Amino acid sequence: MNNFVYSIPTTAYFGKGQIQILGETIKTHGGSKVLLAYGGGSIKQNGIYEMILEQFRKAGLAHVELSGIQPNPRIESVEAGIRVYCDNGCDFILAVGGGSTLDACKAIAAGVKYHGPVTDLFVDESGISSKITAVAPLATILTMAGTGSELDMGGVITVGDDHKKKVVLHPLLNPKFSILDPEYTYTVPEYHSMAGVADIFCHLMEQYFTPEAATTVQDRMNEGVMKAVLEEAPKILIDPKNYDARANIMWASSMALAGFQFVLGKPGFPFPLHGMGHELSSRYDMTHGVTLALLTPAWMRHTMTTAPEHLPVFAKFARNVMDVREADDAKAAEEGVRKLEEFYSGIKMPANLREAGVKEEDLEMMAAKAVENGKLGILTSIGKEEALQILQMAL
Ligand code: NZQ
Ligand code: ZN
Repeated sequence: MNNFVYSIPTTAYFGKGQIQILGETIKTHGGSKVLLAYGGGSIKQNGIYEMILEQFRKAGLAHVELSGIQPNPRIESVEAGIRVYCDNGCDFILAVGGGSTLDACKAIAAGVKYHGPVTDLFVDESGISSKITAVAPLATILTMAGTGSELDMGGVITVGDDHKKKVVLHPLLNPKFSILDPEYTYTVPEYHSMAGVADIFCHLMEQYFTPEAATTVQDRMNEGVMKAVLEEAPKILIDPKNYDARANIMWASSMALAGFQFVLGKPGFPFPLHGMGHELSSRYDMTHGVTLALLTPAWMRHTMTTAPEHLPVFAKFARNVMDVREADDAKAAEEGVRKLEEFYSGIKMPANLREAGVKEEDLEMMAAKAVENGKLGILTSIGKEEALQILQMAL
């Protein structure tokens, strides 16, 4: 196992009614005038907005608002948020929503402390956003489980005419605290609830499918969370107000990327599926988790065929997570992929890229863009040709 540093400087307030700590905890972190940021308005329909205002009133906090942050959030929302924060003399940011709102607010938090274009703050060759040296205090209220943004140090922002997805990543971007009330996710539509599940599962798989590194603790914990997701997600389909299922999926979302704990001690930082999936979102504005469900089986089969020396990790996944009983590694691995496809179909993900509306003539362009900043993956090295093969297999 390689050396690593592990730190999650975010306090999680998990469970029913935790919103009551909101006002006083913002004040503890020096907040008196809050930028309240949210998405397209779901928080007004389900009552969360009013509950927040009540907490602000009780604590004597002033606030201004940034609304309309869209899924796959755009840099223009970030720039608008920076202006609202600075023009109104805010001293705290509260992000309320799913990953899109949380991510936009992370970029805003860094942008308000940076004298220059916020586009300077994306990840550079160093592997993090090295120009970030200070951030405004940020807290989150999560309303949709999936991305893990509530307990991690990253954010994904869409930039430019070609809708390229760029990453801000820095330890300072971990929220000061996150309120995780599973009841807030009751109103998430089925499609987005299940896309969130696919995202969580992919975060776990991306950290699991790595070269062997004697990381038994990380991998066994990861397997446990994966099995929990497989068990709990279908319960939400049957009853969207199943508190315990929503609670387990919400905590799985947070745990999957908390301090990137399941990839600690391993060589490199994998996430090739995210690298390719982001291109589907860029070209088709496709929901993030759906892109991952579409590509994962193809990527697994591609890796199993082109790098059979890695079959053992896929066979281990099949046996330990998907309950495959098969002695032969190649057969077990393939059965694991088949069972994963069955799971995706059960949570109503589209079966292939075509069904999701992807056009064959776009594949080459997306493959090229996926690797324009370098090859992807650590099990195999995915350049343009390999990315194209995977996209074709997923078609
Ligand atoms: O905007 P509103 O009206 O709130 O509606 C949202 C949105 O339409 C709706 N929603 C959220 N909570 C709801 C609700 N509707 C009803 N009731 C509720 N309680 O759900 C829709 C999707 O929301 P969004 O925030 O876009 O979803 P998600 O959480 O999946 O976030 C996706 C973004 O996160 C990035 C993705 O790339 C994508 O841009 N990611 C961020 C990561 C990170 N920060 O670590 C890692 C991930 O891999 C991912 O890349
Ligand atoms: Zn993701």
